[in-house]
Amino acid sequence: MNEALKTIITRRSIRKYVDQPISEDQVQWMLRAAMNAPSAGNEQPWEFLVITNRDKLKKVPEFHPYSKMLPGAALAILVVADPSKVKYEEELRQLWIQDCSAATQNILLAAHSLGLGAVWLAVYPDSLRLKGIRELFNIPEEMVPFSIVSLGYPVGTKLAEDHYDETRIHREVW
Ligand SMILES: Cc1cc2nc3c(=O)[nH]c(=O)nc-3n(C[C@H](O)[C@H](O)[C@H](O)COP(=O)(O)O)c2cc1C
Repeated sequence: MNEALKTIITRRSIRKYVDQPISEDQVQWMLRAAMNAPSAGNEQPWEFLVITNRDKLKKVPEFHPYSKMLPGAALAILVVADPSKVKYEEELRQLWIQDCSAATQNILLAAHSLGLGAVWLAVYPDSLRLKGIRELFNIPEEMVPFSIVSLGYPVGTKLAEDHYDETRIHREVW
């Protein structure tokens, strides 16, 4: 297995971190990975907010029930969608969701390859979380807070069990 495949297959959500900061260099690599995700029409409809403020991270679980790890994270990256960048019409206007998902996944993979632990926290489309994040971080109205990636050096190593499942594969026709 080569390094890229190993990174993809051994990545797991990490929710417990040691108290150690993440370097600016590592943050840059994760953001660069995010910005190199594929996007429909190459519109790259994303922006990123890097959050290290512990007081703010502590406030997120007040409105996001599955974010209890955030106060213990070294930092978080908020992936914010800019739907105005999407030039497609009607149903395809929603393609920013896939684009921001790809960017979020790239952050997770970059984090894992750097020896960091990460977990994807959904914000969009939960209205309570959207409101809470908008208010806490002053997100402009036209932007959509999409996901939070919680990051830190992992406590121990999580055994990665391969999720490969032959029964989910169909070939040629269903
Ligand atoms: C769209 C999405 C939303 C998620 N939201 C949360 C969340 O709010 N809190 C959390 O702890 N994990 C969240 N996760 C992580 C999943 O629980 C995790 O990916 C799943 O259990 C599989 O585990 P693995 O990532 O270790 O393979 C989310 C994952 C995705 C893809």
